[in-house]
Amino acid sequence: MKKSVTSGRSRAKAKAKAPKGLDIEPRSPALDGHVAIVTGSSKGLGKAIALALGSAGAKVVVNYYHGREQAQATLAELTERGIVAEMIRADVTSERQVQKLVRDTEKKLGKPDIVVLNATPDQPQKPIEQYDWAFHQQMLDFFVKSPFLLTRAMLPSMKKKKWGRIINIGSEVFRRGVPNFSPYVAAKGAQAGWTRSMASELAPFNITVNMVSPGWIPVERHDKDPKALKDGYKALIPMRRWGVPGDVGGIISFLASEQAAFITGQDVAVNGGMTVG
Ligand SMILES: NC(=O)c1ccc[n+]([C@@H]2O[C@H](COP(=O)([O-])OP(=O)(O)OC[C@H]3O[C@@H](n4cnc5c(N)ncnc54)[C@H](OP(=O)(O)O)[C@@H]3O)[C@@H](O)[C@H]2O)c1
Repeated sequence: MKKSVTSGRSRAKAKAKAPKGLDIEPRSPALDGHVAIVTGSSKGLGKAIALALGSAGAKVVVNYYHGREQAQATLAELTERGIVAEMIRADVTSERQVQKLVRDTEKKLGKPDIVVLNATPDQPQKPIEQYDWAFHQQMLDFFVKSPFLLTRAMLPSMKKKKWGRIINIGSEVFRRGVPNFSPYVAAKGAQAGWTRSMASELAPFNITVNMVSPGWIPVERHDKDPKALKDGYKALIPMRRWGVPGDVGGIISFLASEQAAFITGQDVAVNGGMTVG
């Protein structure tokens, strides 16, 4: 009788013969030994990202600028879950404050090797006639200047270690070309271009650069948005449910992990199918 190829002995033989490059043993997603800065993580999506990275074992910096009490509450939530975390106040659009943020992180938690570029100011939607250049500049400061400053400050130690994760938070508004939102959409588009260029530039150093682009995921700042607006958006989502902050946290901790070691320059939409095709 022919021996079954699934017998224990055959499996062991097959495994022994498998070439190194085909080793499909799962690699640990744990982020033990890593230090992450999540910009703007006192609330909203940033808080969920900090929780996800911390739950995977990373030490985490909760960065904030205006809301100390909110940051303290978030820090308490993280530490209650056994996550090693520190809160550090810094305006992520200021070169001096970004350099200090990175120095303080090193002193308190160790050299940061994961950065999630998430912080945002308010984003009012208006027709072009009602925007001024100062607002455009603010959008560029948050979504282009800030990723540049953080990356420049963290790069020397990432390059030395030959390991790093740079994750930009984009938005589906770029792919959808959402109207009455031009400065925000333009800045998120610029951030997407920066992600792609940096991914190619830093790949030889084993540093991955990716983007995660959420759809509308209601957070604290959306509490008072009109119900009709919310219902209208929800009706468009192919998955017929709202995204939740944890949907973003999950993909971020995956992209930061060893399991995503060969993924760079990608833009992952987290929006229930809004931008398929
Ligand atoms: N939620 C969504 O539906 C959605 C959809 C697509 C994309 N996004 C993107 O996801 C990211 C997070 O959005 P969100 O909705 O979670 O925003 P959010 O709830 O308003 O949180 C913004 C965070 O940024 C911080 N921040 C503001 N100014 C800062 C500064 N100068 N320096 C450092 N931190 C600063 C805030 O802290 P302080 O208040 O203490 O300053 C807060 O922690 C943004 O990049 C946004 O464009 C969100």
